[in-house]
Amino acid sequence: MTVVQAAYIDRPGPATAIRYGPLPAPRPGPTDVLVDVAATTVNHVDTFVRSGAFRTPLPLPFVVGRDLIGTVADAGEGVTGFRAGDRVWCNSMGHGGRQGAAATRVVVPADRLYPLPPGTPDEAVTVLHPAATAYLALVQHGRLQPGETVVIGGGGGNVGAALITVAAAWGARVVTTAAPRDAAFCRAAGAEQVIDYSAPDLGDRLAAACPEGIHLFLDTSGTNHLDLMVGLLTLRGRIVLIAGARSRPTLPAGDLYTMDRSIVGFVISHATTAELAQAAGAMNRMLATGRFALRELVHLPLSAMAEAHRLVEAGEMRARRVLVVPD
Ligand SMILES: NC(=O)c1ccc[n+]([C@@H]2O[C@H](COP(=O)([O-])OP(=O)(O)OC[C@H]3O[C@@H](n4cnc5c(N)ncnc54)[C@H](OP(=O)(O)O)[C@@H]3O)[C@@H](O)[C@H]2O)c1
Repeated sequence: MTVVQAAYIDRPGPATAIRYGPLPAPRPGPTDVLVDVAATTVNHVDTFVRSGAFRTPLPLPFVVGRDLIGTVADAGEGVTGFRAGDRVWCNSMGHGGRQGAAATRVVVPADRLYPLPPGTPDEAVTVLHPAATAYLALVQHGRLQPGETVVIGGGGGNVGAALITVAAAWGARVVTTAAPRDAAFCRAAGAEQVIDYSAPDLGDRLAAACPEGIHLFLDTSGTNHLDLMVGLLTLRGRIVLIAGARSRPTLPAGDLYTMDRSIVGFVISHATTAELAQAAGAMNRMLATGRFALRELVHLPLSAMAEAHRLVEAGEMRARRVLVVPD
């Protein structure tokens, strides 16, 4: 194969900058795996990389997309553990100088590739980024312990639902805020209590739902209501900031330091291959049992990647995910 079909940009820009067509076939190195892509998707971060809002080295022309499910076509001689025909997944292409997942065939470094549990559908590509984010935010950066109380802001969203699912599987008690229309979905994902995020007495409701305090708080909506949430934490309670790049919350400093509380930031783009592999191990155990709730899908061909980015960026994918498959 001398060419692949790909969705790519010649320079960072709007969704309309994404082109579709042939590019020279990628050449695998000795520790790489050649993968035929069955499905990819679009997360917010893909639009940030494409537009240049998230600064990361981009080899041009740059194939967009972070996540893929596919089948091994060939493996380099230095690769062990993967053979032609294996079903696999990856969620760390398309940044840090690596080409993206939105092509018919891609080269994936073997240490970023994981076996796909038998029976896992291509649609699961839509949870790979949110679920790894959830695992690393909760377990690594949030130091979550079984039995602790976690509050998730925005449980109806992609990352929010994954946070609920992973935290519940980790043995935590999960309280979430969400729109009322997402309450049943959040409960099905594992939330014990769902509180309307627009309730005027949100603080009182959260305090009532967490009488012993909140051990860990994560807000996917980016509201980052720190003036309220810091005071609701337990002694040594933690907040992991993962969204709201432009938010400028008020920090009640005394409530934070006099109770040994802490706030840390996290983006998955800086996760090491060892951290991603640890997340992948936990995710594979959950994928194998069909634990992640999948949202309604919008199916688009690879040639319509520009439209997929537009839909995500325009906020038209509420409670839905886009599944992009080669034409
Ligand atoms: N740090 C990382 O590594 C990382 C990784 C992945 C994603 N992210 C970021 O995480 C954020 C969420 O991503 P996503 O894919 O989950 O987006 P999403 O699916 O759009 O989810 C956002 C959720 O927040 C809800 N929401 C809106 N206003 C709220 C409020 N005031 N209080 C509580 N919830 C509210 C939304 O509900 P409605 O639909 O009712 O408005 C929606 O369910 C994005 O900013 C993304 O860039 C960060």
